Amino acid sequence: MDDTSRVVMITGAASGMGAASAREFAAAGDTVVIVDRNQELAEEVAAEIGAPSPIIGDVSDSAFCDRAVGDTIESHGRLDVLVNCAGIIVRADALGTSDRDWRRIMGANVDGVFFMSRAAVPHMKRQGRGAIVNFGSIWGNVGAAGVTAYCATKGAVHQITRAMALDHVRDGIRINAVCPGEVNTPMLASERPQPPTAEDLQKLAEETIPMARLADPAEIARVVFFLASDAASYMTGSLVTVDAGYTAR
Ligand SMILES: NC(=O)c1ccc[n+]([C@@H]2O[C@H](COP(=O)([O-])OP(=O)(O)OC[C@H]3O[C@@H](n4cnc5c(N)ncnc54)[C@H](O)[C@@H]3O)[C@@H](O)[C@H]2O)c1
Repeated sequence: MDDTSRVVMITGAASGMGAASAREFAAAGDTVVIVDRNQELAEEVAAEIGAPSPIIGDVSDSAFCDRAVGDTIESHGRLDVLVNCAGIIVRADALGTSDRDWRRIMGANVDGVFFMSRAAVPHMKRQGRGAIVNFGSIWGNVGAAGVTAYCATKGAVHQITRAMALDHVRDGIRINAVCPGEVNTPMLASERPQPPTAEDLQKLAEETIPMARLADPAEIARVVFFLASDAASYMTGSLVTVDAGYTAR
């Protein structure tokens, strides 16, 4: 793929690692199409990086995903890169996970990745090239207590990545996943009775992360950028862990 001035759609780009990825691609001169359900934050990021008007909606809705991709093709003529970053967490074991929370997290984390990818692939296939980067997680590789539904969704993302990579390898489309460890984004504080203090986060890092610190979102965004670029031309179906040694143990 010509790495200059690509059209890059990023879901979840209003916050955290999606926003950091948007900054990374925009800095390289790419056109970044922000897709998020949070209009206010999405518009802030778009204004900051000089991106077109964001596409606002919910990626768990397949009709929205089809429309978002269709509108992008209509406005920009092509789609080179899709980054599926939108996601949520539910912090509960199975007994504490309601039907509603199970559906909600499956919708955002699994349906969203599937619907956006299914909408994007025909256009990339027609172009004869394209790259998709999905957001998996260390919790798709190893289990963790108190996040059953989240672990299930990330395991599913890893398998969507591998299966779709094989289906479209001869279409010139590379599909990989980045699997971050603990990253300092608003998600870390979300869905908790009390937001953690800076001391809580430092303690968590020292007790659980070999490098004894959380990742900055930009440290993940740089790997996303690499996976989407020609520098990663021999990579497809890979799950790239970026976790400061967490899963090396
Ligand atoms: N923060 C971490 O430690 C961590 C670790 C591993 C993986 N991840 C994954 O990385 C991705 C980004 O997480 P983050 O930490 O940057 O989170 P974040 O909460 O900062 O950002 C998530 C963004 O996704 C959007 N979003 C959520 N559900 C959506 C939906 N249904 N439709 C449209 N937009 C939606 C939100 O509005 C938000 O802007 C997620 O997939 C998450 O599971 C996070």
